[in-house]
Amino acid sequence: MAKKKSPRGKTKAAARKAAKPARRAATSKPARRAATSKPARRAATSKKATKLKAKAKPPAALKAAPVKAAAKNGGSPKPTAKPFGQAGKALDGVKILDFTHVQSGPTCTQLLGYLGADCIKVERPGVGDITRGQLRDVKGADSLYFTMLNGNKRSITIDSKHPKGKEILDRLIKQCDVLVENFAPGALDRMGLTWDYIHKLNPRMIVASVKGFGPGPYEDCKVYENVAQCAGGAASTTGFREGPPLVTGAQIGDSGTGLHLALGIVAALYQRNRTGRGQRVLAAMQDGVLNLCRVKLRDQQRLKHGPLGEYSQYGEGVAFGQSVPRAGNDSGGGQPGWILKCKGWESDPDAYIYFITQAPVWGEICDLIGKPEWKTHPDFVTPPARLPRLKQIFNTIEEWTKTKTKFEVMEACNAVDIPVGPILSMKEIAEEESLRKTGTVVEVDHPTRGPYLTVGNPIKLSDSITEVKRSPLLGEHTDQILTKDLGYSAKQLEEIKASGAITAPEKPKAAAA
Ligand code: COA
Repeated sequence: MAKKKSPRGKTKAAARKAAKPARRAATSKPARRAATSKPARRAATSKKATKLKAKAKPPAALKAAPVKAAAKNGGSPKPTAKPFGQAGKALDGVKILDFTHVQSGPTCTQLLGYLGADCIKVERPGVGDITRGQLRDVKGADSLYFTMLNGNKRSITIDSKHPKGKEILDRLIKQCDVLVENFAPGALDRMGLTWDYIHKLNPRMIVASVKGFGPGPYEDCKVYENVAQCAGGAASTTGFREGPPLVTGAQIGDSGTGLHLALGIVAALYQRNRTGRGQRVLAAMQDGVLNLCRVKLRDQQRLKHGPLGEYSQYGEGVAFGQSVPRAGNDSGGGQPGWILKCKGWESDPDAYIYFITQAPVWGEICDLIGKPEWKTHPDFVTPPARLPRLKQIFNTIEEWTKTKTKFEVMEACNAVDIPVGPILSMKEIAEEESLRKTGTVVEVDHPTRGPYLTVGNPIKLSDSITEVKRSPLLGEHTDQILTKDLGYSAKQLEEIKASGAITAPEKPKAAAA
């Protein structure tokens, strides 16, 4: 390799050294954008921007101008004159080396992609993220499990254990801002990509990981969603008192931890603006679930001081044990609530409403359900008086809700500020017009499976508008990334292909021949 001549007649090693930053700057689209766009100019600390600045060597007068402008604005660039939503995306110029798979990691990087980061998803040649083939609904096409978690990404196939694959990864590490991974503990190290190695190669690189557990007795365990829900305190506090612990349908272990990791990454990027160096970011699934179960740890401590009055078991006279019990559909806050049947509940499994007996609107509730006398009756007039009678109260409210559909109950209650929540089925959510309008539910087209629904960006920024793009096919961008981003020549690309570093291992038939 080293003996090969570059187009300019230099040895390859010398040419690479001299030409890499220039080639990167001149040929890659993101770099071209970085050179011209205002958001990227603002991110003058980003590696690309720094290199471009260093190469361009502007005259002193030109160099001084942005400093003056920045000083006037408390260190920030002058506010752009562009209309909101037309000044690029929040994470424009951030390049993610995406080593994630299954759900937790992909949730994180998809969100960063929604916010404008360029996510390069590295997948094993011929195999890819295991979810591509899991729970398949359309034969031969990537599953919804994969497509709904990997939008706004590019896919490159690399065998990370192949020497040539390692060389490609080194180039990517030098060029990217963040490496995100959620391999089993130790897997990244076994690829040779230890923190020390990465940090030496690119001191600005942020290395972000999801693991099942943080340091401690379980740190080496592989963990999936429901394991995390159990270990993080969600399962023991979910379900009905008389029944077993329950897991919830919300993927608080996977998607919840992905969200935590995304926040950690954005914070690390911000800190890097000051320190100039990357850092490790860890979001353990047990920690993420516990963070979401914070109110239950609150109740655990309250137990020392007496029974938990807002739990319906208190009103039913059932003694509390040593740990926070499962509380059925009791509200986790200070205002008692319960799920009540609505018109049609006999045949529609989702004809229910969550009803909160919020203290300030107690009078309105009494009027609505036809119990005006409860407004002054000593057994019902104050929240503490009502606590032992919650079952009776909710049974009475239910007699009223059963006469109306969940949407009629919602309309009547909202008119007088009573907080209620209709139990919406996934069908209803998928068809909800307002969610389509806000981009929370988005239909995207896909070359092999056709249109599918996905969840867009749940976080709306007024100056960083999300465009939801379909997930990539396996290795769809391999050639593009190798040539345009990493600067490999067409000839080198062919050599890489022949090396087996980016292609699937040969089938047994070929091996036998
Ligand atoms: N090229 C070559 N090898 C690759 C590769 C690539 N591009 N991508 C992955 N591999 C290898 C890994 O190096 C690893 O090999 P090794 O164990 O021999 O070192 C192997 O593939 C399997 O990776 P692993 O992460 O162990 O996958 P798994 O299917 O066995 O386990 C999890 C899956 C999710 C249980 C595990 O990754 C995990 O615990 N992750 C952290 C917690 C988490 O995110 N869980 C939630 C998932 S939604």
